[in-house]
Amino acid sequence: MARMYRDEDVDMGVLAGRRIGIVGYGNQGQAQALNLRDSGFVPLVGNRDDAYASRAAADGFAVRPIAEVAEAADIILFLIPDEVQPQVYQEQIRPHLRPGDVLCFASGYNIYYRAIVPPEGVRTIMVAPRMIGRAVRNLYQQQLGFPCLVAGENDPDGGAMRIALALAKAIGATRFGAFESSFREETVIDLFAEQMLWPGIVKLCLLYFEKLVANGCDPEIVTTELHLSGEFVEIAKAMITHGFFGQLKLHSQTSQYGQLSRADRMAPPELLAQVDRAIDEVVSGRFHTEWVREQQAGKPKMRELWQQALEHPLAKSEAKLQALREIVARPCEDRSQ
Ligand code: NAI
Repeated sequence: MARMYRDEDVDMGVLAGRRIGIVGYGNQGQAQALNLRDSGFVPLVGNRDDAYASRAAADGFAVRPIAEVAEAADIILFLIPDEVQPQVYQEQIRPHLRPGDVLCFASGYNIYYRAIVPPEGVRTIMVAPRMIGRAVRNLYQQQLGFPCLVAGENDPDGGAMRIALALAKAIGATRFGAFESSFREETVIDLFAEQMLWPGIVKLCLLYFEKLVANGCDPEIVTTELHLSGEFVEIAKAMITHGFFGQLKLHSQTSQYGQLSRADRMAPPELLAQVDRAIDEVVSGRFHTEWVREQQAGKPKMRELWQQALEHPLAKSEAKLQALREIVARPCEDRSQ
């Protein structure tokens, strides 16, 4: 089992005397900056001049240009979107890195695919919350913590990992637990979910909708059954409390038999071949190359795919049920607070 660290395993002394800089004040940047401040640190916040900078100022931070923070900080938490990190790194961070500095990522992506290669002598670490930014903040305030993956790149003396763990504690993660991982593992787990698990679920949901409507069922009733009732969310939550399979016992016997007896049929050899293809594209970096080219071309395929998605009859059916969505969304949001 992967090693998991909790609050009591962490030596906070490794952060003593080090200036922490946060680059980016978005989902993660805001949450981590506020958590660090409440943990007794005074992070420098670097941001370009945009609405996020105003948000940081409203939260009481003296926002500086990114390059200035890179120059002043010993530990840089790099919290802007992965797609823009390589360029910002080259232009505004790399020139200010000195031996002994620490560069911290919240995802493994750019290090695993070598889109960013920090110089010798700079410790490269990962503190990757498995949680959206808003929850990183809320769970800290509730003193509950959240899971997190930590790693240190080329770390023979373990010094990078100790700093990663101290940061994980300072942002509130080790109250729940931080797993020792790697840039590769974080990237592969994340992208494989995005490229196999979620699209598989999305496609099955669309097939469910299309087949039922083709068989005479009302689109709005099917849409409600599919996700607007909130049952989907309840089942996912029951997986946490009762177990992935254990939650099946909350369904009728007919449902249990139907699910268990038909599950294997849903994974014919053609599908298994696509699963292999998806993991291969992620591990080999072929997806990364494709995505870089798509961005360089101005994202034409992304626009086309979005258009196709929004033209699906499910999107139209959902639009008619706006009032119902609002009723269901309210308790959902309350539950996540
Ligand atoms: P975000 O999309 O919220 O980032 C917004 C920030 O990036 C703003 O401060 C904005 O000023 C800055 N920014 C955007 N484009 C810029 C550019 N061209 N130049 C300079 N600054 C720019 O980012 P998010 O979602 O917080 O992600 C940050 C990191 O955290 C990423 O590595 C991501 O993979 C990781 N992460 C994100 C999670 C989430 O909650 N969204 C969960 C776990 C990890």
